[in-house]
Amino acid sequence: MRGAGDEEQDEGAANEAEQVPFRVSHGSQEKLQGKGESEERARLKNVGLDEEFREEEVMDELGPHGGAELAPDPEVEVSPLWQKMNYKEMELTKEKTLALRNKLIGQSCRLFYSDNPVKIIRARGQYLFDEKGTQYLDCISNVQHVGHCHSSITEAAAAQMDLLNTNTRFLHDNIVMYAERLAATLPEKLNIFYFVNSGSEANDLALRLALQHTQHEDVIVLDHAYHGHLKSLIDISPYKFRKLTGQKEWVHVAPLPDTYRGIYGADHPNPGKAYADAVKDVIEKAQSKGRKIAAFFAESLPSVGGQIILPEGYSAKVAEYVHSAGGVFVADEVQTGFGRVGTHFWAFQLQGKDFCPDIVTMGKPMGNGHPLACVVTTAEIASAFTANGVEYFNTFGGNPVSCAIGLAVLDVIEKENLRENAIKVGAMLKDLLTKLRSKHEIVGDVRGVGLFVGLELVTDRKLKTPATNTAAYVVKKLKENYIFVSTDGPWENVLKFKPPMCFSMDNAKNVTQCIDCILTDIQTMNLKLEKDDI
Ligand SMILES: Cc1ncc(COP(=O)(O)O)c(C=O)c1O
Repeated sequence: MRGAGDEEQDEGAANEAEQVPFRVSHGSQEKLQGKGESEERARLKNVGLDEEFREEEVMDELGPHGGAELAPDPEVEVSPLWQKMNYKEMELTKEKTLALRNKLIGQSCRLFYSDNPVKIIRARGQYLFDEKGTQYLDCISNVQHVGHCHSSITEAAAAQMDLLNTNTRFLHDNIVMYAERLAATLPEKLNIFYFVNSGSEANDLALRLALQHTQHEDVIVLDHAYHGHLKSLIDISPYKFRKLTGQKEWVHVAPLPDTYRGIYGADHPNPGKAYADAVKDVIEKAQSKGRKIAAFFAESLPSVGGQIILPEGYSAKVAEYVHSAGGVFVADEVQTGFGRVGTHFWAFQLQGKDFCPDIVTMGKPMGNGHPLACVVTTAEIASAFTANGVEYFNTFGGNPVSCAIGLAVLDVIEKENLRENAIKVGAMLKDLLTKLRSKHEIVGDVRGVGLFVGLELVTDRKLKTPATNTAAYVVKKLKENYIFVSTDGPWENVLKFKPPMCFSMDNAKNVTQCIDCILTDIQTMNLKLEKDDI
């Protein structure tokens, strides 16, 4: 199952699997169920939780939000707006909603947990609530970046909506103030902005900018990449086009720089250079056929590819090769931007000061759920685009409400020190997950930066055989324990964590503890998940 941060879910764990007889709670409302509390404590000890986990085992002590310091209290906060909407009267039963959805909504728009979908009706911080009021911890929603329904965002949206919303052909302060604030987070040369409504629109425009500027046609992309749902982007998304019409002659695929299971491992003396040289080979091969490179597109941290961290020196070297072929470097920050990596505002900045992309696309977290996305580029590339003499008009992109929301998101990131939170909580999550590696043979790799973390499951550490079914099973069991996590990677065997940035230390402990229990139970019960029983 793929996460909310992605374009689709490929449901692996569709069938009802055998119940694991435990439940670890993460809030006062979710008491340990199915067993007495003392029995549950004994069980946790029996399954060999280490000292650190044992100290944390009773999450009920942490209060209604699992101890989250940053989330507004969902139980006390009943918005006056909600009351005005008289929400209850609009509500359908879950069965009715599902029946209508099946009847009216295209079946290729898949639901999470399609065998037993969850109906979510409200949210706060890093928590989602179903129609019965059950609270779920959300490790999936990278879009609701500063937390679900953050009051600063909803207030900014409502206030601006009450005052004015127009298209961007009228002069207005919000768009320029917002562009100025974004510019302050970026290298100086990236200073011309185009506001759009989705990551796909942003990447499609980036493609147009690159083609216009270079007057070339060809694009290099990383294996397993996904850049959006428009036709132009399906063409440059191996993850999609391999299942559809196949690779176009103007598209070239470079190896995913994955130092865990890729062609060059972490033990290579310089994997960054080796993988960049592989891009050089792709360029030379294309040129030998008379093709000309317009752009190299890559996510700054390939996420659909399996939460990959690019090796040091990779991007600068690739940029050098791409520039000498006359192309531009497009960094897709749709999933990874806005401080998710903690130490930097943009994930491409992890590649060092020497590296600066020519075009950056951004989206998902930008509007905290409001459709807001953007392309930023250099004055030179922008002028080439202007020189074609055709107006670029986008009805909704950069409207006063969107930009008010964008500004509020930036304010909250700063005021609530969310980057610092991503550094601290992300480090702890990675650390706790890494401890699981010494306990569970199935944990092949743990990687990540800030609140972008992946846990790769393998049935054989040497062969790195993907443990796809086990990953699906863990996702399913986590749901039963009120935690939403999803999988990614070419084999859907990477549990990914891209939670709202207010994710807390206790949330990190809670989810790790649950995964530990699930993996322990799989071992204890000797479940053969990699055969056909899921
Ligand atoms: C890396 C990346 N780029 C672009 C997109 C497309 O964004 P959107 O769904 O907002 O069109 C996605 C969506 O999952 C994505 O993951």
